[in-house]
Amino acid sequence: MKINVNGTDYTLNVPANTSLLDALRVNLNLTGSKYGCGEGACGACKVLIDGHATPSCITPVASVENKIVITIEGLEKDGQLHPLQQAFLDEDAFQCAYCSSGMIISAVALKAKNPNPGRQEIIEAMQGNICRCCVYPRIINAISKA
Ligand code: FES
Repeated sequence: MKINVNGTDYTLNVPANTSLLDALRVNLNLTGSKYGCGEGACGACKVLIDGHATPSCITPVASVENKIVITIEGLEKDGQLHPLQQAFLDEDAFQCAYCSSGMIISAVALKAKNPNPGRQEIIEAMQGNICRCCVYPRIINAISKA
């Protein structure tokens, strides 16, 4: 099957029920998306699929043929971090950082729809992302200021 990730076309020879997360991490060596729950509940594995923040652990890779997949690795442009990546650094919006790539992906999807979300809108949009270190106030600040 053929998939497009971060603007590059790839041909994969994997079973159709392989998860997109496994295809990214194992076959394409794009390890920024993390495995947390494996059930679509924690958000650590989120990627953008046609602009929607989606858990890649429960997404069969075959389902993203003819779609545009963007991972955390695809956000940087010309050596410059995406403004949300920079804001997470500036605001220290992580502790262990395991959740960060999924958090940033969800925030990118939110800002594409709503460039200036209020605090409550950010909280609601980030419901599908869990941070076990509980640095939520700094994450909200980063998304707010980006
Ligand atoms: Fe995919 Fe938790 S690992 S949502």
